[in-house]
Formats: sequence, structure tokens, C-alpha cells
Amino acid sequence: MKPRVLVVVGTRPEVVKLAPVVSALERRGDAFERPYVLFTGQHRELLEQMASAFGLVADENLALMRDGQSLPALTSRLVEGLDQVFEAQRPDIVLAQGDTTTVFTAALVCYYRQLRFGHVEAGLRTDDLYRPFPEEGNRRLVAPLAAWHFAPTAAAAENLLREGVLPSRVHVTGNTVIDALLSMAARSAVSLPCPGGDVTVDPVSAPSPSRRLLLTLHRRESFGAPLEAILNGLAGLLTDYPDLELIYPVHPNPHVRGPAAAALGHLPNARLIDPLAYPEFVAAMKGASVILTDSGGVQEEAPALGVPVLVLRDTTERPEGVAAGVARLVGTDPAAIRAATLEALSSPRGAPRSPYGDGSAGDRIAALLAGESPAPFIDDVGRRTPFL
Ligand code: UD1
Ligand code: UDP
Repeated sequence: MKPRVLVVVGTRPEVVKLAPVVSALERRGDAFERPYVLFTGQHRELLEQMASAFGLVADENLALMRDGQSLPALTSRLVEGLDQVFEAQRPDIVLAQGDTTTVFTAALVCYYRQLRFGHVEAGLRTDDLYRPFPEEGNRRLVAPLAAWHFAPTAAAAENLLREGVLPSRVHVTGNTVIDALLSMAARSAVSLPCPGGDVTVDPVSAPSPSRRLLLTLHRRESFGAPLEAILNGLAGLLTDYPDLELIYPVHPNPHVRGPAAAALGHLPNARLIDPLAYPEFVAAMKGASVILTDSGGVQEEAPALGVPVLVLRDTTERPEGVAAGVARLVGTDPAAIRAATLEALSSPRGAPRSPYGDGSAGDRIAALLAGESPAPFIDDVGRRTPFL
């Protein structure tokens, strides 16, 4: 009997990073039954938008999101919802990706049911339990419960071994985000609908214009004063340098939306827009002079696109981009962000680097689940990614 794999997907980045795994499992019909795709609906519009960009269709959607959801309430809805689906579907293997509440609860319910759990993007650590919050706690809690740890990089695998995870369970696969990026990398100009007039980003002749900033922010540990300080600092920068243009797809979280509009909404050179579908966002990244972000996925994508990225956090679980010289850990202090942005704008752009993947992570994960031994991902920092 071929194993039945159930893939749990909760938020926007999980679509990006699991769509390649679902495709790889579908291609391996010789080894697996058709995968069952479960959306928990921890995200609503963001999940739908991303799923349609990738053509990822859910077999079932628990639609669990509530506006302004608290972590305990979300956790309890997820535990009950996932348990009912696992009872009905009886999977042989459950997969989830990353460090969201969806992932933590999926691993927990698998443990209660003695189901085998595979963790995609395992082993990322900052070693600060509250940064990022709750992601560092989620991924640490998942580790003792997983049967397969698909570490994206050698450093992530080393983190797991340091915590005592059995080496036979740890596999370096590369990050599936690079599979996704390769499948979606926009090659033609894209028009972004912005208040005050559409903005055209041309990924082919990037960087053009040379003073375009792209911003994303959503980390819980920044809510309140740190987030307001970042936004007000950027408002000051945009006021002092009216030739700068900021493109800012604003996360729908009410803790982000209100402060974003209050700090930047009145500035003519700040384009606050709804979250972009993946092809448009990839084009926006390629067309940016500098990316400012607290996102995990964007830290991985920017180096592959060769776009300098400033990480607006105090810690990162993705040191490879910093080591490759493409990412810079700037923190949340407005003066430091301003100085780093101006410096990045006036520095020559480096070549694309690919420390996070080679585009074959999904196939490696499917092969490993099938009991095969594919060649591991070898960090190829310094080599140009094949699509650029
Ligand atoms: C979640 C994850 C975070 C991940 C991020 C990716 C948790 C606790 N957090 O953060 O690890 O990096 O997703 O984006 O797992 N909302 C909408 N529509 C949507 C999505 C969100 O309105 O489609 C609003 C809702 O008010 C919701 C709130 O945003 O309650 C927060 O959503 P939630 O998933 O709890 O946290 P994120 O900050 O999105
Ligand atoms: N992204 C997107 N449109 C946007 C903002 C982000 O398609 O408007 C993509 C981005 O390219 C990356 C993923 O969403 O693949 C990252 O999601 P997010 O920052 O919400 O989560 P994180 O990676 O921090 O968990």
C-alpha cells in the first residue's frame, strides 16, 4: 500500500514553501497516494491569494481565522480542528512547514495520535525564545516530535544535532522557497495598483528607478512602540528624501494596518498597498533598490534575486544571507535603519547568491519520504542562481 501524505497549510508563506512539496509528491504517484491538502485557514485572504497564485487547491479548509486572533484561542481551535481531520482522513504521514501556530499544533496532534510528522524547514534558531515570538518557541517545540527533519541548510541541521536530534532523522534539502521562486520568477514588467497612480516595476531592467524601497513588516514582537518607531523613522526618511519611493504592501493584521496608515499614509512618496500576489511581489522585489523587511521568506528570496535586504529585527535565524553579504541585520532603531538604507542605496549591488536552495528541495523531500537517498543540498554560495 502506498502511503497517504496529508499536507497542512496555514498561512501565506506555508503556501509558498509547501506548493513545491505537494507538486513533488504528485509527481511521485509511483510511491505515494495523491496527497491530501488541508488548509487550516489560520490566514484567510493571504492564504487564498497565495494558493491561487500557485494553483494549490485544498481538499478541505478549516477556515479557522478570526480577526485579531489571540495565540491561545487560535491554538485551541487548531488542535481540535486538526484532530478531527486526522481522525477522518487517517494519514500515514503528516507534513507541515516552518514555525507558525499551525505547524506547532499539527506536530502536537500527530504526537497525540502517534502519527509520523515531517517538518519542512526544520532547525532554524535564534536561540532567543522570544525573538521571533512565537516562532522560536514553535519550532523548538516541534523538534522533539518530528520523525523527519528537512533542514534547509547545513547550519540548520547542525542546530538540530546540537539539540540531540538523531542524525539519521536530519536531512539537508535546501529551502523549498527557492523551488517556488524559480517557478514564479517574473520576467516581464508588472503594474502595481497604488493610490495616486499605478507603479510599474520592471524586473528585467532592475534596479530602476534606483531609489525604490520595498517594505514588509508583521512580527508580533515588534508590535507597539518598536513598530511605530520603525514607521515614523521611515516617514522622516521619506520626507527628507522626496526622490525616494517606498512600496509597502501592508499586512492585514490590525496591529500593523493602523500604525502603518497613521505614520505613512499622508506621504506622497509612500505607496501603501494591499498584499501582493506572489508574481507581483517577486517583480516588486526584483525592481527594488533595497528591501526592508522582518519577513523570513523575503530574507531568503532577496539574496537569490541579488537585491540588498535590511532585516528590521534584532536577531535572525537565517545567518546565511548575512554571511553571503546580501542581508544586513539592522534592528528596529530608526537612526540605524536610516543610516543602513542610505548606505545600501549608495553601494553597488552585488551578484545574486544562493545560500538557501537550488530549486530541488521539494523533489528531495519526496524522495526521502519514499525511503530513497537523494544527494543532499550543497550550499553553493557565490554561484549565480540559474534563472538570473
Ligand atoms: C502568522 C504567523 C507568523 C508568520 C506569518 C506569515 C503565528 C502565530 N504567526 O503571523 O509566524 O510569519 O503568519 O505572514 O503563527 N489577517 C487577516 N487576513 C489574513 C491573515 C491575517 O485579516 O489573511 C489578520 C487577522 O486579523 C488575524 C491577524 O491578521 O487575526 C493575525 O494573523 P495570525 O496568523 O495570527 O498572525 P500573523 O501576524 O499573520
Ligand atoms: N509575499 C507576497 N506578497 C506580499 C508580501 C510577501 O507574495 O505582499 C511573499 C514573500 O515573497 C514570501 C512570503 O510571502 O514568499 C513571506 O510571507 P511573510 O513575510 O508573511 O511570512 P514569513 O516568511 O515571515 O513567515
